[in-house]
Amino acid sequence: MKDHLSVECEAILQPKIAARDVQVHYGETHAIKDVSVDIADNTVTAFIGPSGCGKSTFLRCINRMNDTIGICRVRGDIKLDGEDIYDKAVDPVQLRAKVGMVFQKPNPFPKSIYDNVAYGPKIHGLARNKTELDEIVENALRRAALWDEAKDRLNQPGTGLSGGQQQRLCIARAVATAPEVLLMDEPCSALDPIATAQVEELIDELRQNYCVVIVTHSMQQAARVSQRTAFFHLGNLVEFGDTGQVFTNPQDKRTESYITGRIG
Ligand SMILES: Nc1ncnc2c1ncn2[C@@H]1O[C@H](COP(=O)(O)OP(=O)(O)OP(=O)(O)O)[C@@H](O)[C@H]1O
Ligand SMILES: [Mg+2]
Repeated sequence: MKDHLSVECEAILQPKIAARDVQVHYGETHAIKDVSVDIADNTVTAFIGPSGCGKSTFLRCINRMNDTIGICRVRGDIKLDGEDIYDKAVDPVQLRAKVGMVFQKPNPFPKSIYDNVAYGPKIHGLARNKTELDEIVENALRRAALWDEAKDRLNQPGTGLSGGQQQRLCIARAVATAPEVLLMDEPCSALDPIATAQVEELIDELRQNYCVVIVTHSMQQAARVSQRTAFFHLGNLVEFGDTGQVFTNPQDKRTESYITGRIG
């Protein structure tokens, strides 16, 4: 595990994601106000804060999912490995293969379990033959802690799984394309405690290779899985720092009120 200092240095020297002065409006609603943040690679960063504070909105800025919302306007600068992701030359579909996303509500494709996971690797040419594709699918399902439940029904529809299983299928689908960044918006809210523990374990494992950003309402979860925590409030990034420090010694009164249960 990386120590606090090296995580800190990496964030300053070479952030995976660097956001500067980001503003987001939905029509008249000013949802994100002047947010600047550096997010380190090989780190789990948690976004916390009361409902409506802008966590999902900011997360969606990182893979341009807000482009799909007609009334949404994003301004400012977001760089991935030093490259502006809002540059006209960037294809949002390619970007989203690099910056994968898992949503709060499971959204499997209306396809078989196998095809849900195989779809991304197929269109991005990650397998040379059926054997390799089978391996990718099995590996992704194992990593998402779904293999044992799914291995005998790979050809059945993904939508026929339970809610928690569907969410793990979506996680398998996201990791199958080997993204560099994985954005997770409350990925465990549809899961029972056992599946949650499995997914948290997976998140910790993914950190070895990826940059993971997770939105969570559970402070226990943020404390368990993340190294860095960002606290949002009314569209502002109020505090960002080492998870241990944010939870034990918050610098801002609003963070303290939230983590002690007085707001939110
Ligand atoms: N598609 C949309 N159209 C209009 N306004 C939106 C849209 N999505 C979000 N907003 C508004 O933007 C603000 C931030 O919402 P966002 O969903 O980012 O909050 P959040 O922190 O993720 O909340 P929650 O914890 O409840 O998921 C809110 O005022 C919300 O009403
Ligand atoms: Mg949200």
